[in-house]
Amino acid sequence: MGKSDRKREHYYREAKRKGYRSRSAFKLKQIAKKYKMLQGVDRVLELCSAPGGWTQVLRELDHTLEIVAVDLDRMPPIQRVKFIQGDITDPEVMERIKELTGGSVDLVLSDCSPNVTGTWTLDVARQLHLAETTVKIADGLLTKEGKVLAKVFQGKGFQQFLQGVRDRYRSVKLVKPDASRKSSAEIYLLALHPK
Ligand SMILES: C[S@@+](CC[C@H](N)C(=O)[O-])C[C@H]1O[C@@H](n2cnc3c(N)ncnc32)[C@H](O)[C@@H]1O
Repeated sequence: MGKSDRKREHYYREAKRKGYRSRSAFKLKQIAKKYKMLQGVDRVLELCSAPGGWTQVLRELDHTLEIVAVDLDRMPPIQRVKFIQGDITDPEVMERIKELTGGSVDLVLSDCSPNVTGTWTLDVARQLHLAETTVKIADGLLTKEGKVLAKVFQGKGFQQFLQGVRDRYRSVKLVKPDASRKSSAEIYLLALHPK
């Protein structure tokens, strides 16, 4: 077994042991801790939340957070989380998000992955569209001190996307948590304070 497989196996076992619905939960835990991401945060919008590993971590780190979560798939309930089953690119879903959040949030999280087709360029393009949609949604809802954390695949269009976010936010970091495999193209963009 290679190092990357061992790491995957480790986080898989840990997720089972701790009752998390996904290995991905550890990525959020690591980022949230390192960047004190929940400081000053009361309201969170989580895009592409199913099966709910990140949502579990949010609840665990701060039980007072108001959370609205959205995914195409169903998500087993989590206490006091308002869940919308729908497509984040659908304008009707956007309306519902506005209703349930009251039109303003302190943090937008997004761990979106399209159903992979196996054709790399197509998968990258579809994932980038989800990351762009995330930032567009964040632009409309974030408070002045707001933050957005979004997964993005580093492929065609990535640099242009990054520049677009840099133009609109005061601080932008690229983050690769230990729980994300080094060999995977995914990276997390953490943007703070819309201009
Ligand atoms: C990697 S999973 C998220 C895992 C989650 N962070 C967790 O810890 O459980 C990616 C999710 O993106 C969702 N997704 C993909 N395209 C979407 C879209 N257009 N609208 C809403 N959700 C979408 C998928 O249904 C899938 O559940």
